Amino acid sequence: MTTGTPARVPLIAGNWKMNLDHLQSIAFVQKLAWNLKDARHDFSQVEVAVFPPFTDLRSVQTLVSADRLPIKFGAQDVSAHASGAYTGEISASFLTALECTYVIIGHSERRTLHNETDQQVSAKVVAATGAGLVPVICVGETAEDLEEHGPSAVPVSQLKVALAELKPGADIVVAYEPVWAIGSGQAATPEQAEQVASALRSVISDALGAETAAATRILYGGSVKAANIAGFMRQANIDGALVGGASLDIAEFSSIARYRSHVGT
Ligand code: PGA
Repeated sequence: MTTGTPARVPLIAGNWKMNLDHLQSIAFVQKLAWNLKDARHDFSQVEVAVFPPFTDLRSVQTLVSADRLPIKFGAQDVSAHASGAYTGEISASFLTALECTYVIIGHSERRTLHNETDQQVSAKVVAATGAGLVPVICVGETAEDLEEHGPSAVPVSQLKVALAELKPGADIVVAYEPVWAIGSGQAATPEQAEQVASALRSVISDALGAETAAATRILYGGSVKAANIAGFMRQANIDGALVGGASLDIAEFSSIARYRSHVGT
């Protein structure tokens, strides 16, 4: 069977949050790569990326580059500023210097625990794209938002602001992560995720044009595991997953990345 490169290469992304130190991350990435290689995973058909804590990135970079591993990596946050008196912040250019491909921006834990606003998310997106990083822009509604406004309203308004300063052709990834689904074991239904993903693609089209919207990958995140990934990946507007808890288990995460082989799609 000949399969060309899909228009939007699906992305399975592991958000480690504050787990695994730099030594643990080396062992993890090495084993993950072996596991996927053994399973003959085709990385050109389904991309795999990990998002370790900042302090692990140099170690992951060294391993990935020395062993030429086909695994991508990125950071979990970035400063909106390029340099200067911002104690504790990490500049986007520091991340490109470490060969990061991606950076997660606006994760709900940062919005909630660090009071990040849509405007700050937008500024970080500008900083990331300006430095050559691909931002994974997270949006999603809380349980209260869902009850009050339905699933799409809040993610749509968050994304509008996040994209406001970008130009057509911007290389971005969007992650729809309902806050109530994160770490709860209660994932959205594939149909609901598709409904929001489709609304988000329209936002991208309005802001950046139809071509950019068609090229942008939209991920679903929130209690994704091997047992439910297939339902999401069957949806027309869902191009991958942002995986938290299940990304810390090598067998489970690699099974999620290999969703095609175990669902026969
Ligand atoms: P979860 O986390 O898979 O543990 O629900 C997802 C995320 O926060 O990105």
